Amino acid sequence: MCRCGDMDKKEELIKVAGEVKKCRKCDLWRGAIQSVPGEGSFDAQVVFVGEAPGFHEDQRGIPFCGAAGKLLDKLLALAQLERGDVFITNVLKHRPSGNRDPLPSEIEACRSFLDRQIEIIEPKIIVTLGRFSMAKFLPNALISQVHGQPRFVEFGGKEWIVIPMYHPAAALRNGKIMVAEQEDFIKLGEFLEKINGGGEVKVEKEKEKEEQLKLI
Ligand code: URA
Repeated sequence: MCRCGDMDKKEELIKVAGEVKKCRKCDLWRGAIQSVPGEGSFDAQVVFVGEAPGFHEDQRGIPFCGAAGKLLDKLLALAQLERGDVFITNVLKHRPSGNRDPLPSEIEACRSFLDRQIEIIEPKIIVTLGRFSMAKFLPNALISQVHGQPRFVEFGGKEWIVIPMYHPAAALRNGKIMVAEQEDFIKLGEFLEKINGGGEVKVEKEKEKEEQLKLI
C-alpha cells in the first residue's frame, strides 16, 4: 500500500508511466506507436478502468480520446465530474492490433501496472468499463446483472469499492445500454456525494454476494 504524500503520489505515477513505456513483458509494444499508461489526477477519488487503447489512443498516448472517450466525457458530466478530477486508465497499456480482445497472457503481463496505479492513488471508487476490467475485480459477475451496483472487493490486502459499468463503446452501439449507462453515471455522482458528505451508502460485499448466488 502506498503511504505517499501528494508529491510522492505524482512521482510514483510518473515512475509507473516510465516503466510502462519501456515494458517488453508481452509483444504488444511491437505493433503499437506508443504506450498509453493513463492520465488524470494523482489524487482522484474515482479511477476508471477500460480495456485497452484503440487507434486514437495509440496515436495520441491518451486514454479514451476517440468516440468512446467523447461519450465518456459527457457521462462524467452526468456524475458532476470532469476528466481532470478522475484518473482514467486501461487493463492493457499498449494497443492490441486491430483492436482485438486482450489475451489472458497480456492481461497478466500488464497486471502490476494497474495494481500499482490503484495502490498509489487509493481512490474511493474504482469504476470498471466493460467486461475485461470488470473480470479483474468481479470474475464471476455478469455485467447485465451487476452494472451500476457498488461492491466491496478485496484486492492487494485492502477492501475497495468497485462499481462495474458497461463500456462506453457498447453504449454507442446499443440504445438500451446507453440509457442504463447514463443512469449509472448519474447514480455514481449521487453515491460520491453521499460518501463525501458522510451519508449512509449501501455496498454489498462481493464475497457474500457470491455465496448467496451459490445457494440459489
Ligand atoms: N476503449 C478502451 O477500453 N480504452 C480506451 O482507452 C479507449 C477505448
